Amino acid sequence: MAGIPEHLLKRAQEARDKAAGIAPAADGATASENVLVKVAENKPVANAPTASAPPPPPDPSYVVAANSRKKIPFWAMATLSLLPLWAFLYVLAIQPQEKIVEGPLAVGAGVYGSCAGCHGANGAGGAGRVLYQGEVLKTFPKIEDMLSFVYIGSQQYVSAGMKIYGNPDREGGAHALLSYNGNPMPQQGEKYGGGLTEAEILGVVCHERYELSGADPESEEWKAEYELWCSPESEIFAGLETGAVNFDNLAETYAAMPNAPAHVGTDPRPSGK
Ligand code: HEC
Repeated sequence: MAGIPEHLLKRAQEARDKAAGIAPAADGATASENVLVKVAENKPVANAPTASAPPPPPDPSYVVAANSRKKIPFWAMATLSLLPLWAFLYVLAIQPQEKIVEGPLAVGAGVYGSCAGCHGANGAGGAGRVLYQGEVLKTFPKIEDMLSFVYIGSQQYVSAGMKIYGNPDREGGAHALLSYNGNPMPQQGEKYGGGLTEAEILGVVCHERYELSGADPESEEWKAEYELWCSPESEIFAGLETGAVNFDNLAETYAAMPNAPAHVGTDPRPSGK
């Protein structure tokens, strides 16, 4: 530093210190000198410039972008984890509804084609009596009596000397035999030469009660009957299909069942007997 006067050097040093925010030393030494002294004495120094560690290099732009991006909130994970379940249910939902292919109602819907010519496709009646809008439920509050009547047909009742079939206290009057248009209801059971099995007769009777006449399987009034006779799980229907039981012995066979069935029978008899 030859040639530069001492006092100029000192002033320059003071200017640098001032810029760095270091107070001038009281004793006239430059702040830097002062700092060095104090560091040497191993005392804490206010405003000492931190040691040589260079500032960390700035994060690259993609790190900055990743850090400042909005995070997926934690609860979204729970929602997203349900996606596979949703997809599964969605696929299930768009499958075509399967038609009921088994059980009394399914069998009955097929058998009813042979009744529709006289009773109408929806039970509105024709050559045969009206079967819809609750009409058969009024005539036969108990399904057992309706099974017998369809199995046996009007003519056997007449031959047995009876005047009416079904509920004698029927709302609107009991149905007298051969009173609709003078014609009989044709016998359907094998014993009298009819073409239907007992399982088919149960099926078609279920169809007329629950589909045409509108009995509600969920209702207090019909729930027990539906489950016992007409539901897809009906043990009686299964027994009739396999031949394990028939109309004449099913009441005895199932006597221990809850809501045990009453006698059906294949001989003409007054309702409820
Ligand atoms: C040839 C026409 C004819 C056919 C086929 C026929 N029915 Fe009938 N059905 C009648 C007539 C007529 C009556 C009224 C009987 C009477 O007055 O004695 C009747 C009455 C009934 C009744 C009584 C309804 C009531 O409330 O009084 C039921 C139940 C019934 N039929 C069911 C059936 C079923 C089930 C089939 C098919 C398996 C069937 N019918 C096929 C003519 C027919």
